[in-house]
Amino acid sequence: MITDEEKKEIRELMSHYATARAAGPEALKIVQNHRGWVSAESLKAVAEMLDMSCEELDSVATFYNMIFRKPVGRHVMLICDSISCYIARYDMLLDHLNRTHGIRMGETTPDGRFTLLPAACLGACDHAPAMMIDETLYGDLTPEKMDNILGKYQ
Ligand code: FES
Repeated sequence: MITDEEKKEIRELMSHYATARAAGPEALKIVQNHRGWVSAESLKAVAEMLDMSCEELDSVATFYNMIFRKPVGRHVMLICDSISCYIARYDMLLDHLNRTHGIRMGETTPDGRFTLLPAACLGACDHAPAMMIDETLYGDLTPEKMDNILGKYQ
């Protein structure tokens, strides 16, 4: 189920695409912007609008790792686990987060503040290790720098 407002935004979006199904990823992002994630019911409603099966649309959601199919925290923290960040010891950041916030990859802090997820290269290899919180990219991370950054998010 989605709201009239979401439907209106999706219809407007569809008008910019040659086919309704091409709007799939962005239509799911509209729902996610309103709700924080995309439930099975919301996905079904969007699939009906786009004349797609739920399975087809779900595969789109799976392909785009910025579409969340489970509830997430108020802020989504994507830590890059690709080669430059691997070499720059992104695992130190994970250990630090586990110590300070009690979370591992795929988990949400008990206060619902952050969800930690892995990401492929964020395009900041020359500033590895890197992470993105919501839409903001951070690089040259150390545990101390990470503490300062996380302190800005409530
Ligand atoms: Fe991490 Fe490119 S490998 S930002």
